[in-house]
Amino acid sequence: MTGKLYGIGVGPGETGLMTLKAKEVLDKCGVIAYPVKKVGEGSVALDIISPVVDISEKSIEEFLFSMDPDDSVREKCRKDNLDKMCRLLDNGEDIAMVTLGDVGVYSTYMYIDSEIRARGYETEVIPGIPSFCHGAALAGVPLMIGNEGLAVVPVAKENSKLLEAALESFDNVVVMKAFKSIRMLAEMMESKGIPVERATVVSNVGMEGEYVGPMDLDREYGYFTTVIIKKKG
Ligand SMILES: C[S@@+](CC[C@H](N)C(=O)[O-])C[C@H]1O[C@@H](n2cnc3c(N)ncnc32)[C@H](O)[C@@H]1O
Repeated sequence: MTGKLYGIGVGPGETGLMTLKAKEVLDKCGVIAYPVKKVGEGSVALDIISPVVDISEKSIEEFLFSMDPDDSVREKCRKDNLDKMCRLLDNGEDIAMVTLGDVGVYSTYMYIDSEIRARGYETEVIPGIPSFCHGAALAGVPLMIGNEGLAVVPVAKENSKLLEAALESFDNVVVMKAFKSIRMLAEMMESKGIPVERATVVSNVGMEGEYVGPMDLDREYGYFTTVIIKKKG
């Protein structure tokens, strides 16, 4: 029988925040897959599941999604990955691709899911707790309350307009991939009359080096850094 592909959100860092469903599906899949940008870089998502899922008898497969500036290199990589996945599925393997946080929040898995479905295979997404939900819980702030809205935006060179629009239009803004942009964000807030005290940085939540606190412009932040801005305090 042909196998099935699962995209599994394993939560942002703490193993205890994985869902029972994630564990159930991981336990039954013979192949655990994870995407990487560089060969051998490992997977935080794999580290999260390891304490509660016995992976010793499973096949662990790394899938390289190259960030090479050359389109043809990236395209070849993507096609090779899809072909390899289809071979595993044709061999009857159920594959669980693990993703940090939730699968629907900026994850590579969703590209794979639609392509694998288009090739006629069955897929299923198992949601997880997004990093900003855990961050808000640790910070003790509601993401939104009453009739408020929430914008979730990434920091990216090509979308500073989106970030500005979110800050102007929404009571609450979650800024993802903010690690190199804390100073820029503080300046943008000030230029819009939003006190920087309204921002909470949530970095490495549920991981070593966890930081939940105000914007500290002298601090170095790693990739797993998100900022929660609440304009109404
Ligand atoms: C590619 S996105 C993945 C998001 C993930 N799927 C989720 O649901 O949170 C990577 C960004 O997620 C945020 N992130 C992921 N894990 C985090 C953590 N443990 N603590 C704080 N932010 C985190 C950071 O903004 C990071 O730059």
